[in-house]
Formats: sequence, C-alpha cells, structure tokens
Amino acid sequence: MSAAPGAGNGKATVPDIRNRKSRLVSSSTAPARITCLTAYDYPTARLLDDAGVDILLVGDSLGMVVLGYENTLPVTMEEMLHHTRAVRRGTRRALVVADMPYGSYHTEFAESLRSALRFVKEGGAEAVKIEGGERRLELIARLVEAEIPVMGHVGLTPQSLNALGGFKVQGKTAEAAKQLLRDARAVEAAGAFSIVLESVPRELAARITQELNIPTIGIGAGPDCDGQVLVIHDILGLTLNGTPKFARRYANLAAEITRAAGEYCEDVRSGRFPSDAESYHLPAEMRQSLLQRSQR
Ligand code: KIV
Repeated sequence: MSAAPGAGNGKATVPDIRNRKSRLVSSSTAPARITCLTAYDYPTARLLDDAGVDILLVGDSLGMVVLGYENTLPVTMEEMLHHTRAVRRGTRRALVVADMPYGSYHTEFAESLRSALRFVKEGGAEAVKIEGGERRLELIARLVEAEIPVMGHVGLTPQSLNALGGFKVQGKTAEAAKQLLRDARAVEAAGAFSIVLESVPRELAARITQELNIPTIGIGAGPDCDGQVLVIHDILGLTLNGTPKFARRYANLAAEITRAAGEYCEDVRSGRFPSDAESYHLPAEMRQSLLQRSQR
C-alpha cells in the first residue's frame, strides 16, 4: 500500500513535517497546521489516509482504547509492532509514527536503539515517538544518529503516570513552566523533528511554539501549536470511559454500533435475517432433483 517516498507523489515525509513550522514563514504564506490522529489498525489507517491526515500515530494509547488496559504502562513491544504493521499496510500518503512503549527505552541505550530499529525494520514506521524532555536528550540524539527520526513528547507524559500522580495538566507553576520549556528545548537540541505538547496551559504552549524551530503538535495545549493530535476513538465517540475536556467529538459511533448490533440480533431472532436474496442457491436442475429426492 505504501507510496514510494519522494517529491511529487503527495507522500508526507519527515522533512515535509519539519518544514511545516508556521512561525518560520510570513503569515500570508504560513503552511496549514499539521493534522495528526492516532490509528491502530488497517481499515482506520486507510480511511484516515484517504481523508488526508498528515501523520498517523500508532499511539500506546491503544492499550487503553483498544486493548482495555487501565493505562499505557502494560503495553508491550510485540503489541505495538503488531498494530504498527497493520497501520503501515493501510497507509499510502501519511507519515507513520510509532510510539515506543514503556520499558522499551528505559534501560540501556543499546536496548532502546534495538527497540526503535524494530519499529522501522519490522513495523514499517518512518519515525518513533518518545516521552520525556531533558532526560531523553542523549537517547534522542543517538536514535537520530542511527537515522531514526524522533518525535518528542513533553507535558503530560502518560508513561510517567505513577511519578506524576495522575493525568494532570502540567506546567502550571512558574518552576514547572520553566522546566517544561527546558524539556522542549532539549528535545529540539537532541535533533527531534517535531514535539507533542500534552495537557499544558495554552499560554505556555504558545510560548514554546514561538521559541522552538521544530513544529509543536498539541493535545490539550490550545490552538497556538503548529499542529494538533487527538485519539481517533475520542473524535469518533468510541471511547467508553469518558473523554478529556480537550477532545472534540465529531461522531457518535458507539451509539451507532450498539444500534446496528441490536437490530442484527432482532433480525436473527425473528428470522428476518438472512433473506432469500442473502442466500446462495443451487443451479435450477440440482434444486429440482434435491426437491424430488426429499419428497420420496
Ligand atoms: O499514545 C498516544 O496516543 C499519544 C498521543 C495522544 C499524543 O501519545
């Protein structure tokens, strides 16, 4: 399914995304903001790719919205690779970014590098995403050196759930805001091509966006970022355990799925499904002889 990367075929590439920094050009020629959605399977990837989404992020949020875990911490490399391959098969144009799961980059550099390489070689990802700021500086630099483009992620980093004490807005005190700014700068200095800002006050996200030369992609970070990302299940109304304040719902597929499944059950139970038109038939002469035999 994937288009060959190269100029002119509409394929979104890492340099394309890197160059979509609105602040670097005058407002009259500013590029459209970057669109990013999560995708975890083949049909969703195809549909989002057809819709023109720039980046498909195989987020470890799949642990919560697809696999039913309480948080993202239990997600494994094998689960992430399985879903990344499915998304790769469904994507022609968008940039495919895979989230490195908790534990896959928290031990030695060599092990982290091997995990990241698997996403490129086995998963078909074009970049990986890593949570954390200053403390990931060296790791990001090493991955970039190994030709693996990196998307950073600072602010609310769900893999730090236990350390942060919950899913809370970050950077709300002067000290926390300064640290967030340092984290964002470190990610850029390490060579990341873009950075996710999650659950940070709008004003702080605007300041970081203004200062960095790489595009910021916000989730719960207000409208001043260079792009936006949301979890696909949130925008489709498929999240069953509540959605955060920042997620805008564009459809209510949960109600639609429940309705369709309920109608199917009614039709089966009452004998309305399947109909004759939904059945296969024998050729006429065989039908006749079968009928005669059953009448003997
Ligand atoms: O896992 C994920 O889906 C993410 C995005 C929400 C940024 O990290």
